[in-house]
Amino acid sequence: MHLGRTTLPKFLTQQLQGQAGDTELVSLIMDVASAVKAVSAMVARGALGGSLDVLASANASGDTQKLLDVTTNTAFLRHCEWSGLVAGMVSEEMDDAYDIPEPYQRGPYLLVFDPLDGSSNIDINVSVGSIFSVLKHAGTGRPLATDFLQPGTTQVAAGYAMYGPSTLLVLTVGSGTHAFTLDREVGDFILTQPNLTVPADTSEFAINASNERFWEPPVQRYVAECKAGTHGVRARDFNMRWIASMVAEVHRILVRGGVFMYPRDTKTPLRPGRLRLLYEANPMAMLIEQAGGAATTGRHRMLDVIPTELHQRVPVILGSRNEVERIERYHREYDSGEDRPYVSPLFNDRSLYRTEGMR
Ligand code: F6P
Repeated sequence: MHLGRTTLPKFLTQQLQGQAGDTELVSLIMDVASAVKAVSAMVARGALGGSLDVLASANASGDTQKLLDVTTNTAFLRHCEWSGLVAGMVSEEMDDAYDIPEPYQRGPYLLVFDPLDGSSNIDINVSVGSIFSVLKHAGTGRPLATDFLQPGTTQVAAGYAMYGPSTLLVLTVGSGTHAFTLDREVGDFILTQPNLTVPADTSEFAINASNERFWEPPVQRYVAECKAGTHGVRARDFNMRWIASMVAEVHRILVRGGVFMYPRDTKTPLRPGRLRLLYEANPMAMLIEQAGGAATTGRHRMLDVIPTELHQRVPVILGSRNEVERIERYHREYDSGEDRPYVSPLFNDRSLYRTEGMR
């Protein structure tokens, strides 16, 4: 029993007390938490709920949808549309922004979310999650798509739910990153890991190594050095993990450190990365920074990227600060030609002669 322990509403009320709009933000996060509980129950039913069925449809990013992608999306919409707290929502599973239907009122916030991240893992019973980010709505009327295109620095709250052996809610409202565990018997989220801290150093990295030939040289250099271990310049052995579920990878990093990379690659030349900026990269970047880590595209701090599209993709490198800074340095050294002594500066990335094929 958790009598006397810190529940989610108690924690949020204490953290946000006195800030403008505090009660509204507490209520909105409690609506998100209700959606998470509903999704947790759906995921836990697995094949019994028929939810692993693949649908004929694809989402805005072209990924095939499973029934569970659609039902979890609906759970988020139904739990968050009614309370007069959000003016509109954007989801990975919907092409356009969702307007709040009559008779509900629009509110002061915008909610963006990925209702079921890592859904390629649901049929093999590996952890999946939901990711969300809360922005302020500058206007009062129906939000336009452009209202959602705010840099990550403007997020007022961000978090994810992880549906593993236990269901966790990990969140930040701008003052540290904190983890709550769902007490299934009582239905409350209980604060179990306050002030998560990402160690600055690590010997663990996560990347889909099957894409190695498509990576840019700075990432190839970093991973090659990690793999060389005690025989190479890093002079220590590294460990590699890849769950293919971003929520599970980020959670591991928040608990014990590490680096997660889904970098720019040339596998699909027209897209700059796999992960989505608004509802994957930005909320995770805020959580990681609030825990003392770092998040970058390789060339820019993630939270400073100005979005241009709702479903924009972006290269993502995040985790233990010293390793992320090293990878950023490798990008700088590559872009300036410093780590390519035999390449004429005329042919480096900033030159007139730059072609993608040279990489
Ligand atoms: O769509 C996002 C996602 O499922 C992430 O959760 C995960 O990190 C990544 O895609 C896995 O990609 P891949 O299938 O290329 O390993």
